[in-house]
Amino acid sequence: MNNCKAVEIAKNIYWVGAIDWSMRNFHGYETARGSSYNAYLILDKKITLIDTAKINFKDELLERISGVIDPAKIDVIVSSHVEPDHSGSLREVAAIAKNAEIITTNPNGVKGLTARYGELNYKPVKAGDSISIGARTLQFVPTPMLHWPDSMVTYCPEEKILFSNDAFGEHFATSMRFDDENDLDTILFEAKKYYANILMPFGKQAQAALKALGDLEINLIATGHGVIWRKNIGKILDCYKKWSSGEVEERAVVVFDSMWHSTEILAQTITEAFAKRGIPAAYYDIKATPLSDIVTDIFMSKYLAVGSPTINNQMMPTIAKFLCYIKGLRPLNHKAFAFGSYGWGGQSIGLVEDELKAAGMEIILDKIRIANVPTKTQLDEITEKIINGISF
Ligand code: FEO
Repeated sequence: MNNCKAVEIAKNIYWVGAIDWSMRNFHGYETARGSSYNAYLILDKKITLIDTAKINFKDELLERISGVIDPAKIDVIVSSHVEPDHSGSLREVAAIAKNAEIITTNPNGVKGLTARYGELNYKPVKAGDSISIGARTLQFVPTPMLHWPDSMVTYCPEEKILFSNDAFGEHFATSMRFDDENDLDTILFEAKKYYANILMPFGKQAQAALKALGDLEINLIATGHGVIWRKNIGKILDCYKKWSSGEVEERAVVVFDSMWHSTEILAQTITEAFAKRGIPAAYYDIKATPLSDIVTDIFMSKYLAVGSPTINNQMMPTIAKFLCYIKGLRPLNHKAFAFGSYGWGGQSIGLVEDELKAAGMEIILDKIRIANVPTKTQLDEITEKIINGISF
């Protein structure tokens, strides 16, 4: 027992989740501030649990629930999302709450949960369905591919609470449950990082979800990760509208790896050239910054320059990993080019350019290929091209 306590977030509604202080990698997403797996317990005629937690946090979840009621008394479990950070303790909770029905989307939620946890007492729901749990109603709004096929949010009109699961969340471990009890800049950065690393490919679905939520009156957004929004609801909704719009800013990101400093010199020159043109540019030696942070900067920046020297006829593996990640995330409306130095073959620069194209980016400058060490004349030419030679 860890002396874990529930936190009452509204009258008879409790946060009963778990805090993952030490998690630093969430399936490849580097999570410098840990995370939380938020679950919520509603005491009403039908006692309702919204989501569970990662399996290794089952005891923490059950301890928090037990501080409020006997978990065997849970009548309804809402499974917003099959991914195991939220559903991981479902079978264990269901084994205690033997009569509970498990609400999930049809067919994807039922299929996904059955594959992971076997036959349980599932009650499938679809868009527009709602249930009464006593004094309160729960309305279900499927949000398919935000970010799994089964994803769903739940709205309680009597309390004006949106239980939003992954949407509007952050990987952010904190002892304080609400947005206004934490540093706003930090949580907005982590929310942006979460959007960039998890939801970026699903902008259309995010726009559809925002439309489906429409004019709902919302007093609390009870997320699946990080803080509960109560003071800055308008701000996080506005952020989601902007992030999912495909809008990009007049900013550049330069990402590179280097073997013997030549590609590094090119990266410095390109960064300074963007700045001379009046376009703020961020400079990332890929060895020095986590990929997830670089991606957070890229997704709203219109321009991307990627550099790699050639090694064994290939690009550097660090850059290959980065481009593989970017290709999956599919940032919208980006303009890019490739650069790099080489000793003899020089294949890496073309390979980088191919990957940028495959990621859907418009190539705005012929690849910059420099043999050995760039001369001052070559650096001046690159600067001139970026300042005057290409139309952005
Ligand atoms: Fe937080 Fe998609 O799980």
